[in-house]
Amino acid sequence: MEIRQLLEIGNKKLTGVEFVDPIKESIFILSKVLDVDKSFVYINFDKWVNEKQTEKFLEIIDRRALGEPISYIFNTKEFMGIDFFVEKGVLIPRWETEILVEYIIDYIEKNFKDEDINLLDIGIGSGAISLSIAKNCKNVEVLGIDISNRAISVSNKNLDRLALDNVSFRKSNLFESIKSDERFSIIVSNPPYIKTEVIKDLQRDVKEFEPSLALDGGMDGLLFYRKISKDSKNYLLDKGMLIYEIGFDQGKSVKKIMSDEGFKDVKVIKDLQGLDRIVLGFKK
Ligand SMILES: C[S@@+](CC[C@H](N)C(=O)[O-])C[C@H]1O[C@@H](n2cnc3c(N)ncnc32)[C@H](O)[C@@H]1O
Repeated sequence: MEIRQLLEIGNKKLTGVEFVDPIKESIFILSKVLDVDKSFVYINFDKWVNEKQTEKFLEIIDRRALGEPISYIFNTKEFMGIDFFVEKGVLIPRWETEILVEYIIDYIEKNFKDEDINLLDIGIGSGAISLSIAKNCKNVEVLGIDISNRAISVSNKNLDRLALDNVSFRKSNLFESIKSDERFSIIVSNPPYIKTEVIKDLQRDVKEFEPSLALDGGMDGLLFYRKISKDSKNYLLDKGMLIYEIGFDQGKSVKKIMSDEGFKDVKVIKDLQGLDRIVLGFKK
C-alpha cells in the first residue's frame, strides 16, 4: 500500500480514541515502522510500503485504537533525556517526576558536592528516578526497591543499558528488606497515590494498561505516605531528607503526615503549572 493509504486508514481507526491525535500518531507510528524520520513520511505520500511493514503498521494502529499506550507498544519512554525501556507491568515515567528528580540533583549538588552519600528510592517502576539521579550524581550510591518482580527486572535492564556502577536494585515490600544498619542521607518515593475508588474513572490507557500496584494508594490515596513517613525515620541519617512526589490535591495532607511524624522544615513545592507536586522534610 502507499503511505497515503496507510495514513488514511490510521486516521480513520484512531479518530475518536481518547487523548489521541489520529494523524500525528499515524505518522509517528509509520515512521517507527519504516525506521525513518517523520519528515520522510510527510514528503513521500506516494511511496509504496511493503507487505510486512503494512501488516506491522496496521497491527500497531489496532493496538493503539484499543487504548494501549504508545510507550508500551514501542517499549520506550524518554525521561530526563534518557531512553528508558518500559513494558506492560511497570509504570511509564511521567514528565512531572522530572521536577522531583531535578530538585534532588540540585539539592545534592548544593549540599553534598564533595561527599559520598547513600540514597534510597522506594517504588522504582522502570528505575527512572534511581537511574537519572545516579547518572547525574556520581557521588551518590543509589539503592532502589520495589515489591514488583517486573519492576526489578525492567530496572535492571535499564541499569545494564546505562552501565552505571553506583546503583543497585532489590526486591522489597517497603522497608522489609532494608538491613537494620543501612542508613541514607536521602529517601525519595513516588509511591502509588491514587484513591482506590478513583482508579476506575482514570483515562482508559492508564486504568486498563498500567499496573494498579503502581497506582493504588488505598482508600484516601495516602497509605504509602503514612507508612513511609513513619518507618523512614529508622533509616534516615540525622538531618536526612525524605522527599515525595504527590498528587496535586495532597500537599496539605502529606505535609501534615510528615509534620505529625516529627519531620522538620516540611514544605510543599509546586510544579510549572502551579500545582502542589513535591513534599519534603528533614529528620530532626
Ligand atoms: C507510582 S509508581 C512509581 C514508579 C517510578 N518511581 C516512577 O516514578 O516512574 C510506584 C511504584 O511503587 C511500587 N510499589 C507498590 N507497592 C509497593 C510496596 N509495598 N513496596 C515497594 N514498592 C511498592 C510499584 O510496584 C510501582 O513500581
